Amino acid sequence: MRARIAGTGSSLPRLRVTNDDLGKIMDTSDEWIRSRTGIGARHIAVEETTASMSVAAAKQALEEAGIQAEELDLIIAATLTPDHILPPLSCEVQSALGASNAAAYDLCAACSGFVFALNTAQAYIQSGMYQNILLIGAETLSKLMDWTDRSTCVLFGDGAGAAVVTAAKEGLFAGVQGSDGTKGGVLSCGGRQVNHPFASRQPEHPYVRMNGQEVYKFAVRTVPKCIEQALAQADLQPEDISLFLLHQANQRIIEAVAKRLGQPMEKFPVCLAECGNISAASVPILLDKANRDGRLKRGGQVVLAGFGAGLTWGAVVLTW
Ligand code: ACO
Repeated sequence: MRARIAGTGSSLPRLRVTNDDLGKIMDTSDEWIRSRTGIGARHIAVEETTASMSVAAAKQALEEAGIQAEELDLIIAATLTPDHILPPLSCEVQSALGASNAAAYDLCAACSGFVFALNTAQAYIQSGMYQNILLIGAETLSKLMDWTDRSTCVLFGDGAGAAVVTAAKEGLFAGVQGSDGTKGGVLSCGGRQVNHPFASRQPEHPYVRMNGQEVYKFAVRTVPKCIEQALAQADLQPEDISLFLLHQANQRIIEAVAKRLGQPMEKFPVCLAECGNISAASVPILLDKANRDGRLKRGGQVVLAGFGAGLTWGAVVLTW
């Protein structure tokens, strides 16, 4: 059996903040941001929460899949920005949907989170343990930004995407994933302060810090390689793929991957210009957009790829 995506959904916060809006509150410009990243705007959660956007996206995905919440066996939420440390985001979503028969847990693999969740779903489905799985990628990264650091805060946004995955006999699924914890320092965010009767430690830097050039080099080296590995597993060539849905970090990274794979940019849809980088939510939001734009044809082969903090990376080839 293999995992088949039966429905998708997405949700963005109402507040849309353009590069020009940011130029009014910090020393930056549309020209700088757009020319280096491809980002034109991002959505920032004010009223919305990671959970509320997840639930909205999940309802759309369930509706398209024609599956009731009670039929779900499992919910995996990929996030690095849940609203609370406890309960897990996935359990909040389970409660809001009334998915009373599902187990639920969160998964954190940063920007690779949704692809890792998809590989996890495939493993459960292949083993016969579960049939109907809800996957979510959701973030409110705006709360992890140092809004005085123009080199990071202009890059990220908030939002959620979801996919309902069901067990199918037809089609293919191939997935690879990897991590290199020795390079964790190039993209980091501090944890909570330790302050209890036995120890006290100064808080780490509480906001996202990034060595952009190192992340860039890592991405253009690793992403084509892991896509090629997944394609080899599936016995396919890049030409056999109708769409490549890549994590939306930077337009230049996407162009470099397209060039390395020898494929035209038309096969690489983007939502960066409107959403910025939404970590684990980027891939499922892009997937939902491609689905609703009618760019995914049943029976066609699609690649999804994520990469990010950890460092982590992963790619999946599947039949739509
Ligand atoms: N507006 C105006 N100027 C800026 C801004 C800004 N928002 N941010 C930085 N600058 C300035 C810097 O201060 C610096 O000025 P200086 O030369 O006077 O010191 C200059 O621009 C160049 O700064 P760099 O950091 O060297 O900029 P670079 O050309 O490397 O571009 C970027 C930065 C876009 C992040 C690039 O490194 C990149 O594309 N990295 C890829 C990583 C990425 O996309 N990460 C996203 C998150 S990670 C993930 O999702 C996997």
